[in-house]
Amino acid sequence: MSNNPFPKGFLWGASTSAFQVEGGYNEGGKGPATTDLGTGKPGVADCTVAADHYHHWREDVDLMAELGLKVYRMGFSWSRIMPDKTLEPNPEGLAFYDQLVDYLLEKGIEPLVTLYHFECPQKLVDAFGGWRSREMIDAYLKYAEVCFTHFKGRIKRWVTVNEQLVATSAGPLNGNFEPNPDKNLKNIYQMSYNVSLAEHKAISLLRQIDPSAQIGPVCAIQVVYPNTSRGEDVLAAENAEELTEFYLLDMSVRGEYPPYVADYLKRYNLYPETEDGDDIVLKASKPDFIGINYYFSVCAKKKEGLVNYDQPPFWVSHEFDICENTHFVKTEWMNMGIDPIGLRVGIRKVYNRYQLPMIVTENGVAYSETLGEDNCIHDPYRIDYLAKHIEQVGFLLNEGVPIFGYCPWSFIDVVSSRQGFSKRYGLVYIDRTETDPKECRRVKKDSFYWYQRIIANNGLLE
Ligand code: BG6
Repeated sequence: MSNNPFPKGFLWGASTSAFQVEGGYNEGGKGPATTDLGTGKPGVADCTVAADHYHHWREDVDLMAELGLKVYRMGFSWSRIMPDKTLEPNPEGLAFYDQLVDYLLEKGIEPLVTLYHFECPQKLVDAFGGWRSREMIDAYLKYAEVCFTHFKGRIKRWVTVNEQLVATSAGPLNGNFEPNPDKNLKNIYQMSYNVSLAEHKAISLLRQIDPSAQIGPVCAIQVVYPNTSRGEDVLAAENAEELTEFYLLDMSVRGEYPPYVADYLKRYNLYPETEDGDDIVLKASKPDFIGINYYFSVCAKKKEGLVNYDQPPFWVSHEFDICENTHFVKTEWMNMGIDPIGLRVGIRKVYNRYQLPMIVTENGVAYSETLGEDNCIHDPYRIDYLAKHIEQVGFLLNEGVPIFGYCPWSFIDVVSSRQGFSKRYGLVYIDRTETDPKECRRVKKDSFYWYQRIIANNGLLE
């Protein structure tokens, strides 16, 4: 790239989420969370210790400063701040984040904080079923109110919800374990509708409490290519994008379902229960920005045969089938293959539809890694992946698409959402095994030093 497209002040960052990085699961007055025990599979790390950031936070911020981060895309643990259904804030939980946020600010790193990243307070799930009930909307709003008020002036950008698609589909994260697949889908759409109401109420609340702060959702963008150029496959790919990405972003930005999705939900008896006045809530606010999570693209073809329930619920459809894309190189953990151009395709669509500024909040590649004899991690594959995706961000900036930051997933190795520490994404290695947390020693990978140079150069090196 000859002219550097990255503007002065571009937010080079890195990401984690609270439940995947913190550990300290029963310390400091934290309540139990749906995510504490991870997958529950023997031999796979859970979140009880995770990367032990709860005890290493100062060292971690020092590493972020050494890396040169401008922004740290992090999460608050809902159950650390509001442990149970009394909805009373936990002073020790707030104190933990006070010290973390203050130290980040001291080091000149902006905390970009996600309120809800997969983890739900278990006590709320036990009390009323979590997002299946509208009571969860009030609980989330109370939690948001405490955070907005307490951190007013210190946190300038908030994320309402991380990946609503995944947060509402994955039973272990949200406590919905409905065995009947059709009822399960119905629950998922109801939970997602309730999340959308909560999101809009939180945005409206932030406007009152701290009007200078910004807020937006983080979307797992779904870049879906048609399997062939046949009209039926092109339509199937569009249907898949509408049902897995735009239905959520349209709810966040426009406060309504896209017409195709509304019609689909009615035809298949999946439309959620609504109440009078919901439309006013949904239309009353609009986010300031959209966070983009992108790892890989997928491929879709015309639906044929019976509905396949044996896949993630968001791919269970009457009107498309997800299929393999043979054009991409697959890796151990990326079975859909690696597709940097997909990031450009996906972000361009999001911008054309909503005209909002964007930040890449997650992008990364997983490998199983162990320390070599030289006590280092040499990860050229990660450098290659990140460089190719950063290049696409540069192309988008040249086209005039407003992207204000880029955050690889993840800053340090964290517990993967399903595969423990076998699946590592970090720029910093955590020296622990699945079953033995040891000291959770931090070791900078080659990609750490590479990204440090990218940040210092404000863009890719020639
Ligand atoms: C995103 C999530 O879906 O992908 C992260 O926001 C997650 O929380 C990341 O860890 C990678 O997924 P996984 O399943 O490989 O951990």
